[in-house]
Amino acid sequence: MTDEQVDVLVVGAGATGLSAAYALQRAGRSVLVLESRDRVGGRLWTEEVDGVDLEIGGQWVSPDQEALLAMLDELGLETFERHREGESVYVGLDGERRTFTGEVLPVAPAVEAEMDRLTELLDELSAQMDPARPWDMPGATELDHVTFRAWLDEQCEHEEARDNIAMFIAQAMLTKPAHTFSALQAVHMAASAGSFSNLVDSEFILDRRVIGGLQQVPLQLAARLGDAVRTGHDVEKVCWHDGGVTVACGDLTVSARHLVLAIPPTAVTRVRFEPPLPSVQRETRQHQSFGQVIKVHATYETPFWRDAGLSGTAFSPYLTVHEAYDNTNHDEDRGTLVGFVSDVQADAVLALDADQRRAIILESLQTYFGPEAASPLTYFESDWTSEELGSGAYGSSFDLGGLTRFGPRLREPAGPIQIGSSDVAGLGFQHVDGALRVGAQMARAITDPTS
Ligand code: FDA
Repeated sequence: MTDEQVDVLVVGAGATGLSAAYALQRAGRSVLVLESRDRVGGRLWTEEVDGVDLEIGGQWVSPDQEALLAMLDELGLETFERHREGESVYVGLDGERRTFTGEVLPVAPAVEAEMDRLTELLDELSAQMDPARPWDMPGATELDHVTFRAWLDEQCEHEEARDNIAMFIAQAMLTKPAHTFSALQAVHMAASAGSFSNLVDSEFILDRRVIGGLQQVPLQLAARLGDAVRTGHDVEKVCWHDGGVTVACGDLTVSARHLVLAIPPTAVTRVRFEPPLPSVQRETRQHQSFGQVIKVHATYETPFWRDAGLSGTAFSPYLTVHEAYDNTNHDEDRGTLVGFVSDVQADAVLALDADQRRAIILESLQTYFGPEAASPLTYFESDWTSEELGSGAYGSSFDLGGLTRFGPRLREPAGPIQIGSSDVAGLGFQHVDGALRVGAQMARAITDPTS
């Protein structure tokens, strides 16, 4: 048995926990980070699979993500632009495949006009919201009591316009069906990225990638923290009182003045607390759940779609893979496509066996990019569903009414315990940028409690 005493114990070595620990260490606090998995990074995971480096988790960086961009600078990490030259593909409600350039989907003029109107409306609503306090915006309660799907139905008669607008938030971001979360949660998703227009603009939101992979951020932070980071330590129980915490984990017992619990809400409910957390803290986390998305990589001898004048970007709310991009690595001759299967489509695909899943997913890629898409050299599905510590991707969000009911108390500490992850961020919500912002806020709450 080893006993250790530190100023701050951090649980969770994702971007949130490691950035909090790094800030605390630089502020002169002694820290220890305990991580359940045998690796750091959490939802950031870059791994070689069948000879190809793949971003199994998060990967893209956009220009509004100032906290992430500053961290990349500090760590000396370089980025490269996503390949986007050429025509993109859209498959509409009529099943027709159409190519287009720019950001406007090739839909009928009436559908386009309705999509423009809805985009303007969502931009206006998100401009009225402080993403750190969505419950304070005018009309927040009404928007939180109606599902995004019902709100869209009320606003617009054109099915295809509604389906596309829903796709950008439901399938592409929260990874839940639009009938399961509120219109307020949808506006929050937009406001957390600056505007709805930003979310719709794949040139903006999926702008750059980090050379070597986005997991470089947690890996380099962990390297700087040295032996203060211990993997393979699953924290199951926390004993706490106003003066501090004690955590026993395997043969290690840690006492600390503060605890930073940098884990997703669903993982908080796995931990036992003695005494129990205040009821509002527990209830809040019971109303946040993960969405579901399968991220699929298919690597080919060459990026063949570029020869056909295609960018590799494709959208359709009506196909199994609702969006796809050229995900070729920096300076690599082989070409990689990444596709996403989300919410109820993901449920259906996950019920199939591996061969059936591959066939149905590659069928979508063939529809977008032609018959060559059927035969990748390597094929890989990121499986976040079976990860007990998250049970989904990309992040968690509130059920109907939860944002106004529990949101205002979401970031309250419980005695010496700060709880947070990208799932509770304002700006950068569900993104690495938000994780870094939340990490910095939790560190500041300890080093400068009056700020
Ligand atoms: P995260 O979940 O990463 O870390 C929490 C850590 O706590 C984990 O390592 C976990 O093992 C650990 N833990 C949990 N319980 C524990 C316990 N009891 N004891 C010890 N350890 C415990 N973002 C982005 O900016 N751009 C993008 O392109 C994408 N794309 C994307 C794709 C996919 C497939 C995923 C899954 C996610 C993304 N994201 C993303 C989201 C982004 O990856 C995510 O928001 C952050 O990495 C979350 O970081 P956190 O540290 O907050 O949580």
